[in-house]
Amino acid sequence: MNFKETLSEKTVQIEGILARFLPEEQGFQKRVIEAMNYSILAGGKRLRPMLMAETFRMFGGTGELVEPFMAAVEMVHNYSLVHDDLPAMDNDEYRRGRKTTHVVYGEGMAVLAGDGLLNYAFETACFAFEKAQSPAEYEKVAQAMRVLAGKAGIYGMIGGQCADIEAEEHQEEVTEELLLFIHEHKTAALIQCAMMIGAILAGADREQVDAVEKCAYNIGIAFQIQDDILDVTGSQEVLGKPVGSDEKNGKITYVTLYGLEKSAETVASLSKEAIQILTSFPERNLFLEQLVEQLINRKK
Ligand code: IPE
Ligand code: IPE
Ligand code: MG
Ligand code: MG
Ligand code: MG
Repeated sequence: MNFKETLSEKTVQIEGILARFLPEEQGFQKRVIEAMNYSILAGGKRLRPMLMAETFRMFGGTGELVEPFMAAVEMVHNYSLVHDDLPAMDNDEYRRGRKTTHVVYGEGMAVLAGDGLLNYAFETACFAFEKAQSPAEYEKVAQAMRVLAGKAGIYGMIGGQCADIEAEEHQEEVTEELLLFIHEHKTAALIQCAMMIGAILAGADREQVDAVEKCAYNIGIAFQIQDDILDVTGSQEVLGKPVGSDEKNGKITYVTLYGLEKSAETVASLSKEAIQILTSFPERNLFLEQLVEQLINRKK
C-alpha cells in the first residue's frame, strides 16, 4: 500500500475512534453538544491523534489504552479552533470548508462549545483509567493526564494564543524570540502533547520522552510556519479556511519576518531534524517518518 492509501485508511480508523467518544445530542443541553459535534465532525487532518497513535506504535504500544487520549487531544484541538475563529480572536468565518461554529450557532454557544470540548476531553481521557490493567499502566495514564493538562494550558497552548493576540497590538516589538514563543506554545505544545502521550503510554523511558518532546517541537514549529505560508500562498478551496487571515489581523509571522523562501527552507530543515530524532529510537516507524516528510510540502 502506498503512503496516501495508508494515510487515508488510518484517518478513517481515527474517525471511528473519535465517533465512539462523542457525546450524544440530547437533553436540555442538546444545543451545545450539537455545536461541539458540528466542529469535531467537520473533518480535518486528524494529525494529533495520528501522531499519538504512531508514536505509541513506534515504542511498541498495543491495545486500547491510547484511544481515549487520541479522542481527547482532538477535542482540545477543536476547542482551540472554535475559540480561535471567534470575532474576539481571529474572526474567521470558514473552517474545513464550512461555516465556523460561531457563525452557525452564535458566539455564546461557540464559547460554550469550546469550553464543552475542553472539559469533555478530560472526561474522555479519564476512560483510560478504566482500561488500565495494572498499577504500572494506571501510573502511565496519570502521567499522560498531566501532560495533556499542561500542554493545553497557560504554559502551553493558551499561553501561545495569549501572546499571539497580544502581538497584534505590538507588531513592532515582535522579535524572532517572541515569534518562536508563540509558535512553540500555540501549536507545537499540542503536537508535543500528542507524541509524548503516545510515548508515555507505550512505556518509553524519561530520556526517550524528552527526545520525543524535542522532535515534536520541531514538527510543531515547522507545522505553524507552513500554516503561515499557506495563509499567503494557499487557496480557500483547498485549505477550507480563508487565506489572508494573518494579514487581516496584523499578525507578524515567519513569512512577514523572513519571506516565503526562507520560511520554506526552515520548514524543511526543522522537519529533517525531527526525522533524524525519530530514526534514533530503538524501533523505527517508517510511516511516521514519511508523515513528517510529507508535511513539509502540505497544501492543507
Ligand atoms: C490548524 O490546525 C491550527 C494550527 C495549529 C495551525 P490543523 O491544520 O491541524 O487543522 P485541521 O485539524 O487539519 O483542520
Ligand atoms: C492557531 O493558529 C493555533 C491555535 C491554537 C488554534 P492560527 O490562528 O494560525 O490557526 P488557523 O490558521 O486559524 O487554523
Ligand atoms: Mg490564531
Ligand atoms: Mg486563526
Ligand atoms: Mg493560520
